[in-house]
Amino acid sequence: MLVLNEFPTADEFYKIYWGRKPFVVRGAIDAAAFEGFIDGDMLAGLSLEDEVKSRIVLSAPEGNKWTCEHGPFEEERFSTLGDKNWSLLVQNVEQYHTDTANLLKSFNFSPRWLMDDIMVSYSEAGGTVGPHTDSYHVFLVQGTGHRSWTVGDTPVVNEECIEGLDLKVLKSGVEGEAIEVTIGDVIYIPPHFAHEGKTLETAMTFSVGFLGPKMSELFAQYGHYLEQMEALDKRYAGQELNVRSAGFALAPHAQKTLRGELMNALHADSFSVWLAEYFSTSADVDEAELREDPLSSAELIARLQAGEVLYRPEHVKICTTTSQDGVRTLAVYGAVLVTTVAHDGLIEWLGQHASLSLGDVDALGNKDAVISVIAHLYNQNALFFEGDDPDH
Ligand code: SIN
Ligand code: CO
Repeated sequence: MLVLNEFPTADEFYKIYWGRKPFVVRGAIDAAAFEGFIDGDMLAGLSLEDEVKSRIVLSAPEGNKWTCEHGPFEEERFSTLGDKNWSLLVQNVEQYHTDTANLLKSFNFSPRWLMDDIMVSYSEAGGTVGPHTDSYHVFLVQGTGHRSWTVGDTPVVNEECIEGLDLKVLKSGVEGEAIEVTIGDVIYIPPHFAHEGKTLETAMTFSVGFLGPKMSELFAQYGHYLEQMEALDKRYAGQELNVRSAGFALAPHAQKTLRGELMNALHADSFSVWLAEYFSTSADVDEAELREDPLSSAELIARLQAGEVLYRPEHVKICTTTSQDGVRTLAVYGAVLVTTVAHDGLIEWLGQHASLSLGDVDALGNKDAVISVIAHLYNQNALFFEGDDPDH
């Protein structure tokens, strides 16, 4: 596997690596940053909660046998696991322990809108989920401890898994050179590339995953959106039919009209608005939670004038799009907030910077319009004042 000393530039990343080529970056993340992220005890605590998706994977020391249990777990489960050959894996950790989301600051070159979640694993020596592939792109960020990874250099074509196991483990294993990682090292793995991590010394791994939707999912969800927007939900009226479509024959000409109607729905500006909505949803957060103590625009300005600074926490799911007619959409947790040109500066700002002072707001122009959107974002828990704790 290619070993780099720093992340590739964004341009190199998409041209050379994204979807094509694994790499490892030594010391990509400052070791001190991990002090603010979730630790093993807190991870175990999360796995006791009903709404949190978690698994414990036991790997047999003699190899080729794995078992998987799904959470929520009882606290006592952890006292019977011993100190070898198991891993705890928890999904969507950035939504539950929002300081862990600060890890995402190192991945601004990635398509953040496509980011699914940060899955965190805690594993003891010998812990492994076995050789496998994933449908998603993943950055495996090594926290504390030591692990050894083997990563294939081409995607697996005909995937064959060991039968009768609770998890998907490749029959053929992974061919490649093993590489040892320690705190701050990051491995990028494109979809369908075989990989296997084995824990050498109690370890935590942070998997930043990017999973694209299937076409069936996009069609179903966009169809649902059209259904809610009656004006967009046109009915096929059998226009332009002729004698070739008499009886039971749906002629090529009529097929073309139907396909064209579907294409029209996809080319509509509303498709761009919906994409922002769709890609800002989170598997574990239905919608933005409204603040119990909302602020008016005037109150918000007063706090900024007093020198307070707002910031955008990294866990908040945001997607922005531009439609063909140039209109911008900003969506947060599936709710569309803005579609006017007056907010373009703010949208740009949110993408590039994480904090906002009164001076920054002034520089954006259109102050009244911008402040009302900022107040809206604040009241939806998408912006916080420095010193506030997003987890409370
Ligand atoms: C792990 O952290 O052990 C699992 C990560 C992965 O390979 O998907
Ligand atoms: Co994997």
